[in-house]
Amino acid sequence: MTVKIRKITTDQQIQACFDVMVQLRPHLRRDTFVACVRRQEKTGYRMVAALDGRRVCGVAGYRVFECLSRGRNLYVDDLVTDAARRSRGIGQTMLRWLVGEALRQHCRHLSLDSGVQRFGAHRFYLREGMHILCHHFAMELGPQDIDLDQRVPTTGRWQAIEKAARKPASGRSAAKQKELAVSGRASRRYTRPPPTA
Ligand SMILES: CC(C)(COP(=O)(O)OP(=O)(O)OC[C@H]1O[C@@H](n2cnc3c(N)ncnc32)[C@H](O)[C@@H]1OP(=O)(O)O)[C@@H](O)C(=O)NCCC(=O)NCCS
Repeated sequence: MTVKIRKITTDQQIQACFDVMVQLRPHLRRDTFVACVRRQEKTGYRMVAALDGRRVCGVAGYRVFECLSRGRNLYVDDLVTDAARRSRGIGQTMLRWLVGEALRQHCRHLSLDSGVQRFGAHRFYLREGMHILCHHFAMELGPQDIDLDQRVPTTGRWQAIEKAARKPASGRSAAKQKELAVSGRASRRYTRPPPTA
């Protein structure tokens, strides 16, 4: 099978990548996917698809940036092959295209994070000549499901913060109420697991 890698530019093309991308990022919603990608593009995100004819069989998202530790770097945000098409070299084709893109953009590194549970993907990256160089540390600061399109927090602690800010309890100022909510004392219900890479 020969797949071609194509840059994704139109809303229609972005939407056509949803069914594959959601296999890697199951929290994504079809109705906000295009807006989400467009928002990320403003900070450098780009998407490519592996096409078998007109059919999307793999998707990758990446961005190029410069940092003091590594210089110019292509960072792979997302890489996924349609579950029905794995182990046929599509992942390899996408990764090699990304390496080519990194070189075209004068990057000195290509890097990515891969969740500790993704053993299959680790095998794939090691087979493709990548090395494990870092431990990735993260701290969760808010809910994953905040609706950035409408800027409305939807669940958990942020909901409690909003509620507390709207309805000051008797004898407490709105500012005090919000401070209590932010400090966590107004809501101990927020227990979402950390996001995966
Ligand atoms: C990792 C992934 C992109 C590789 O794509 P691919 O098209 O299967 O890649 P290739 O065909 O070039 O290479 C296949 C190799 O990847 C590895 N692999 C990883 N996950 C696999 C899976 N679920 N099924 C089959 N192979 C898998 C194997 O080592 C396999 O080699 P093998 O066929 O000799 O056993 C793809 O498996 C995938 O989408 N996984 C789920 C999403 C994911 O974890 N993405 C990485 C996020 S960091």
